[in-house]
Amino acid sequence: MGKQRVLSGIQPTGELHLGNYLGAIRNWVEIQQEYDSFLFMADLHAITVPHDPTKLAKNTYNVAAMYLACGIDLNCATIFVQSHIPAHTQLAWLFNCITPVNWLEDMVQFKEKAIKQGENVSAGLLTYPVLQAADILLYEPDKVPVGEDQKQHLELTRDIAARLNYQYGTEDEPVLKLPEPLIRAEGARVMSLTDGTRKMSKSDPSDLSRINMLDTPEQIQHKIKRCKTDSVRGLTFDDPERPECNNLLTLYMILSDQTKAAVATECQDMGWGQFKPLFTETVISALKPIQDRYHEIMAEPGYLESVLRDGRDKAEAIANQTLARVKAVLGYSVPL
Ligand code: TYM
Repeated sequence: MGKQRVLSGIQPTGELHLGNYLGAIRNWVEIQQEYDSFLFMADLHAITVPHDPTKLAKNTYNVAAMYLACGIDLNCATIFVQSHIPAHTQLAWLFNCITPVNWLEDMVQFKEKAIKQGENVSAGLLTYPVLQAADILLYEPDKVPVGEDQKQHLELTRDIAARLNYQYGTEDEPVLKLPEPLIRAEGARVMSLTDGTRKMSKSDPSDLSRINMLDTPEQIQHKIKRCKTDSVRGLTFDDPERPECNNLLTLYMILSDQTKAAVATECQDMGWGQFKPLFTETVISALKPIQDRYHEIMAEPGYLESVLRDGRDKAEAIANQTLARVKAVLGYSVPL
């Protein structure tokens, strides 16, 4: 039997941050030898909120470079751009026609973003999870490694697949394969530096709320100096009254590659004045090799273009097969 397949993607909106790294990319790297990985930049999703056309293509390349800089290995992974493969939007349309609107109105991310945007909410923001279902189901992955915030979208993906199978497939021959989410306990929900009850996010207006993958040592130091803490001495995990403390200790634990027990012992008598410099050094040295590699990749002319061209060829062949199968069960004729 061949390797199982994983698929995942990130929106190229703004710079990637520690949440994207620890919730997604780092996990992709850790499991990549065991799986055949399909990783893409969700640039069609990036325009569901107001965007800057002069930055979209550049951001898309930057994300691809970041995947590679974090250790994605092209011997196990295919990297491609969502908008380069028309099957994504085609399948999304077909799914739009079988997805009840109330399923979409229930999506937490839609509600949150719609509240922020007020009057200007696009239909794309509402139907975004349908496109996400198409992104996933086209490639028939076994697993979809994501952060906690994507869980509901993956459940919807399974619901759409099950509905299509029920309406147009047979029990012996389902049309679409239902994938499993792969959400790791550690790092699945990295919280904001300025409010430990909110997730770290590209769309937070304050850059102080997140550590970006390309932040300089000075920026990292400044953000950690300014980050929200409390006045309790002794640092502990899992205290619901101290969400910032739990978040910072968890980040320290993951980035310094230690166990929870070791960090709990090390930090139990520390004050913030002692912890913050230690944490700052840990973040800077964890990001340094990734940043160095990123700049090397960006300096190689034509390299990313060739990676994305190869990726598109490989991904498109698979995507088109699934699209053709779905069109056939829905009754479309084959073009002559
Ligand atoms: P996006 O671009 O918001 O986030 C990309 C990945 O990063 C994870 N993530 C986090 N993990 C932990 N803590 C955080 N604070 C944090 N913030 C983000 C997300 O869970 C995600 O894994 N809709 C998707 C993109 C997408 C996609 C797909 C993903 C489109 N099609 C198909 C998987 C499969 C999104 O907006 O992710």
